[in-house]
Parts: sequence; structure tokens; C-alpha cells
Amino acid sequence: MIPKILQKLNQQRPTADWICRRSGAPYLPLDIQVPTQAIMEEWHQVAGESVSHRSQDHTIGQSHKGWRSLTLHGVSPSVTTESDLAHTWTEIAHRCPQTRLFLEREFQIGPDTGRIRFMLLAPGGHIMPHQDYDAPELTAVNIAIHNPTGCEFRMMNHGVVPFRTGRAMMLDLSHRHWVTNPTTEPRIHIICHARVPDSTIERSYTNSRY
Ligand SMILES: [Fe+2]
Repeated sequence: MIPKILQKLNQQRPTADWICRRSGAPYLPLDIQVPTQAIMEEWHQVAGESVSHRSQDHTIGQSHKGWRSLTLHGVSPSVTTESDLAHTWTEIAHRCPQTRLFLEREFQIGPDTGRIRFMLLAPGGHIMPHQDYDAPELTAVNIAIHNPTGCEFRMMNHGVVPFRTGRAMMLDLSHRHWVTNPTTEPRIHIICHARVPDSTIERSYTNSRY
């Protein structure tokens, strides 16, 4: 017979706030469906307008290679870095209606929504090690639209983050991270700085641990 107090504890689940700020999880695979084929078709229509991303960065003496971006929600399609100016859907989003529908279905898009961007890492490209902020927290969502086998996203002290095509991850980018694409295919991800519904975070965490 399990004591009642333990039965009660067995039923307990953490809140989204605890999961994001206190769990210490370096990443959380989200339990959402990603229509990768439709998004890839739309990406191909606009890919020619992508721009070089953070090409001026230098870490440990080297720059990123083959990293390009195109903004769906932000200041404009070609502003791919952080900005204090007002953010809204760009004309790229209007030309990618299935992509936008998916984002509006899974995330809470509003006045506080930041950038949402296509991110391309070309064949043979790499993203040099960096951290995006200091305080540990699961924040941005990185969605693998096409993640070629052999392309790796690594996080300091946490190894390879298990991306595969169709998988969306909340990431704690206070950990140093870097990406290599030694394959012959482009890696296409979407990075989304929008609120994830608490119910999605809590369901995803529960599914992976209980
Ligand atoms: Fe980063």
C-alpha cells in the first residue's frame, strides 16, 4: 500500500515557470507537430532573399561560415539581429502563409513577440561557439525544418542536442553552443522568440519524464 502522501506527490507536476527558470534543463523537446514539407516549399520561394547573419562576429579567432537568415516577424526581412524597433509580420510571412499559420497555432504571437526567422546553415558551414545571454533559462524555440544527418548542434557540457527534422526545442542559450554542417545539404531551422503556451511546456516536460 503506497502511503497517501506519496500517492499525492506522484501526481504532482511542475509548472511552466519552474521548468523554464529552475529545472536547469539545457533543452526541452516540444510536443508539437511541425509541417516541415509545407514550410520547406515556402522557404524555397523566398530563400534567395536571405542575408548573411552575424558575419562580423569573431570568436576564438574565426568567423561563422555559411550562416544566413531571413526574418518572418521583426523589423524587416533583412534585419536579422536584435532591435528595439517595433516588430510585426514582414512581407516574407505574407508569402509563407502555411508557415505563419503553423507559428500562430503553436505560439502566442502578440506585441511582446520578438524575432521569428528562417536560419540557413549552408553545406560545409559552421556557427562558432557563443552564448546568447548569461542567466540560465529556457527561452527561444529552435525548430528543425530540415536537419541533415551529420549536422550537429552542440552545447558545452551537454553534448549533441538531439535535433532531427520536424523537432522543435526550447533552448537554454546561456550555455555555449556551436553548430557544424559537414554535409552536402543546407540546414534550415526557424528560431522563434515568441511565448510558448504553458500547457505546451508542461505537456512536453511531463511526456519526457513521467
Ligand atoms: Fe545562439
